[in-house]
Amino acid sequence: MMLDYTPVLAMQISCATGIFPKILTERLRLRRFEPKDDAGLHACIGDANLVRYWDFSACKNIQETRSWVRVLAKTATPEESVAWAVAEKDTDNCIGMVNYHHREPLNRRLEIGYILRYEWHGQGLMSEAVQAVMSHCIGKLNTRRIAAVIHPDNVPSIRLVTRLGFSFEGGPLRDYWRVGNNYMSPMLYSFIAN
Ligand SMILES: CC(C)(COP(=O)(O)OP(=O)(O)OC[C@H]1O[C@@H](n2cnc3c(N)ncnc32)[C@H](O)[C@@H]1OP(=O)(O)O)[C@@H](O)C(=O)NCCC(=O)NCCS
Repeated sequence: MMLDYTPVLAMQISCATGIFPKILTERLRLRRFEPKDDAGLHACIGDANLVRYWDFSACKNIQETRSWVRVLAKTATPEESVAWAVAEKDTDNCIGMVNYHHREPLNRRLEIGYILRYEWHGQGLMSEAVQAVMSHCIGKLNTRRIAAVIHPDNVPSIRLVTRLGFSFEGGPLRDYWRVGNNYMSPMLYSFIAN
């Protein structure tokens, strides 16, 4: 599959100093988190099954998720990290989250993460969202290397990054993630922009 990460024609990206970089794709609106996203995000990060391959324990209740929504809404520091609420274009309902983090502008690199409500799996929606964020990072932030750190049993996530042109780079990264008293050893995938 050939993907074009240069000028993004199918999306509308607004990214200026002080303005949150809202991204529109064919089916999605990637925007800043808002208080109304509590339930949608909770359906993601409150689902122990969905976060089982993350360095994150599932939120136990909606109040816990609500505080994350507040944090995510406030912290858009493009130099380091941005988290987008993934919303359905038609309804603006939050169905997931995509982010980049650990950005190092000097080294032109960053890492990505993503999660999608179970009911919306299998439609290519997160691939669409991640592809749009990759375009943004490459086109607007001058990123060259995009990394994804993925648990070896997380088959849907591995399929997603492979679909988008990432290569397996190595691993396991031993005891890279600490979750409670346990450690996980994920694998490293990366995409290099031309
Ligand atoms: C990772 C995760 C987002 C993948 O979800 P997903 O629904 O498989 O991914 P997409 O939304 O991109 O959908 C892709 C699937 O839809 C299918 N599909 C259907 N219509 C499609 C379309 N129009 N375009 C593209 N793909 C389409 C694809 O074939 C693919 O299925 P396949 O992998 O069986 O071939 C999801 O499993 C998740 O939220 N996991 C929990 C969080 C997590 O682990 N995040 C990653 C941390 S590293």
